[in-house]
Amino acid sequence: MAQATYEYFDLKPALTDMRSAVLAGMRAQQKHVSPMYFYDADGSDLFEQITELPEYYLTRTEIALFDQYSDAIAQRIGSNVCLVEYGSGSSRKIRKLLETARPAAYVPVDISGEHLQANARALHTDNPWLNVYPTCTDFTLPFDLPAAVADLPKAGFFPGSSIGNFEPSAAIELLRNIHVTLGQGAHLLIGVDRKKSVELLEAAYDDAAGVTAQFNLNLLGHLNESLDANFDLTKFTHRATYNAEVGAVQMHLISRCAQQVQVAGELFNFAEGEALHTENSFKYHPEEFLALAAQAGFAANAQWTDANDWYGVYLLTAQ
Ligand code: AVI
Repeated sequence: MAQATYEYFDLKPALTDMRSAVLAGMRAQQKHVSPMYFYDADGSDLFEQITELPEYYLTRTEIALFDQYSDAIAQRIGSNVCLVEYGSGSSRKIRKLLETARPAAYVPVDISGEHLQANARALHTDNPWLNVYPTCTDFTLPFDLPAAVADLPKAGFFPGSSIGNFEPSAAIELLRNIHVTLGQGAHLLIGVDRKKSVELLEAAYDDAAGVTAQFNLNLLGHLNESLDANFDLTKFTHRATYNAEVGAVQMHLISRCAQQVQVAGELFNFAEGEALHTENSFKYHPEEFLALAAQAGFAANAQWTDANDWYGVYLLTAQ
């Protein structure tokens, strides 16, 4: 068999200015920092550890669904397809589907070019039959796919319930942009966590071993390093609560005392008990998620769930 192609595309994404984004959030009435800043090297390691925790059912449940239904998924998306993975990271979850669907091309998309190239190279080495076109860009915006895949049918892949970290309005916009990039008739395979008991949801974000607490607090360490801030990590505690009105698990860091913190040369006061909001993780009943997807022009093609009905995998079609 002829060796397939590997080609890297750097679309040179505009990087958000961390300093002004963090300062704007710190100046707000409800102080907040984007969850985007969890993922420095330590934060990415801690997130990997979270995915292995007994309480964090999301990753293992989703992988089991992809494994169990990979034949059915492959049948529906077809074999001559171009698979586009949104936020590909380690490309761990796509491997089973690559084996089953044997697509014509795989386009992993990520904003972090270095990791993207290393992971895509490794994947190409393991699957020399597959055309791999890693594309470095901000996947929340529409972008041009490599010309080589222009004539192939498209299927997007967006696992991990990452859609849950976007406000519903931003989630609709993101899905609209995916629709623009992939085009009419394309499929989108997406994993979405479901609403369930408050106990299960809160335990998943506040594990007994304290890994999620470390992950949340590490955000302050990241700000200390990158923005010359002076957060004392021992003076904040992790809190994760399910807000039923909003439909999201919300993570905060709570100030243990009245204190002043400096960030990029600016002083901020925290009252004792004051919360810094760090993340929303929205949970959707199937009908809620499908209504949201419909607003972006996607219709349900198929859906799968686990025996507990905890997690949803949806195959959508761009109308
Ligand atoms: C990446 N994202 C889908 C995770 C989630 O479940 O919202 C991030 C996370 N936050 C705390 N634990 C995991």
